[in-house]
Amino acid sequence: RMDLSINSSSSPAVVGRSNESMKHQDRPVPSQWSHNQTLSLKIRKHVLKFLDAEKDISVLKGTLKPGDIIHYVFDRDSTMNVSQNLYALLPRTSPLKGKHFRTCAIVGNSGILLNSGCGKEIDAHSFVIRCNLAPVQEYTQDVGTKTDLVTMNPSVIQRAFEDLANDTWREKLLQRLHSLNGSILWIPAFMAKGGKERVEWVNELILKHHINIRTAYPSLRLLHAVRGYWLTNKVYIKRPTTGLLMYTLATRFCNRIYLYGFWPFPRDQDQNPVKYHYYDSLKYGYMSQASPHTMPLEFKALKALHQQGALKLTVGQCD
Ligand code: CDP
Repeated sequence: RMDLSINSSSSPAVVGRSNESMKHQDRPVPSQWSHNQTLSLKIRKHVLKFLDAEKDISVLKGTLKPGDIIHYVFDRDSTMNVSQNLYALLPRTSPLKGKHFRTCAIVGNSGILLNSGCGKEIDAHSFVIRCNLAPVQEYTQDVGTKTDLVTMNPSVIQRAFEDLANDTWREKLLQRLHSLNGSILWIPAFMAKGGKERVEWVNELILKHHINIRTAYPSLRLLHAVRGYWLTNKVYIKRPTTGLLMYTLATRFCNRIYLYGFWPFPRDQDQNPVKYHYYDSLKYGYMSQASPHTMPLEFKALKALHQQGALKLTVGQCD
């Protein structure tokens, strides 16, 4: 059983519902969480020793040209050529250059968001980050709609858009991309060899349909740098998940960071079942032994940071 209260013996619920609060369900529980500015700044400085989010968030036009050969980060023996389309979509300057936000929301994809009523709260943040083109339209009450940056692992094209098998799926992806309207689409294109065609399809769609988005393709060093940062802090992850990557990047440009939809467990704190994703039927087994991710380990680290006031995790309902 996960108990997220700062100190389960004495304090009331901090996020979600603790044992304490369940005894007094009709009494509103005051939130004990407060932001630790000093710690946040310390983390920002420490992360900066490993990576610079402003730079590592994307490879820039100046550093590559069409035809250049890139070795995949996780499949070193496989290579790709920088296509004309990819080159065309590389930003000239970092989409985060000089950016600072008072508060940022990072929205993970756990089913814990369902019935959370967190939509309004999420949308009220200055900068909202979402993962893997997760749908928002049908879930606005719980997840909001504001999107300033959204990630897209190439595998999403297969899993959520049937590898664009026919016009219906192409149209569905087009709609989703159009709805991003000006925000940043962050595509890890240089990580694993499997995504080559999928990245190319998306690049082609964006250009052909003049979709109004700012594309970003993370640097080759980002993943190792993020991993290095966490390993140094004794968090022994194999490969950082998208959510952890986003938190690590956000420390650079967000004063206060609020996490929603982070809950890599099949049951909530009251033992009710929780879907792996709020929007599809993917099962927990999907990220088990075979997966290089270590989500529960990451969660433990994030929870500790919550308790110290460096970030705020919401795993229950919003007010
Ligand atoms: O790209 P990845 O497969 O890691 O992510 P996802 O399944 O699209 O979910 C986005 C992020 O939300 C993950 O990277 C995790 O950080 C977080 N998440 C979670 O904490 N618990 C879940 N049940 C699912 C996702």
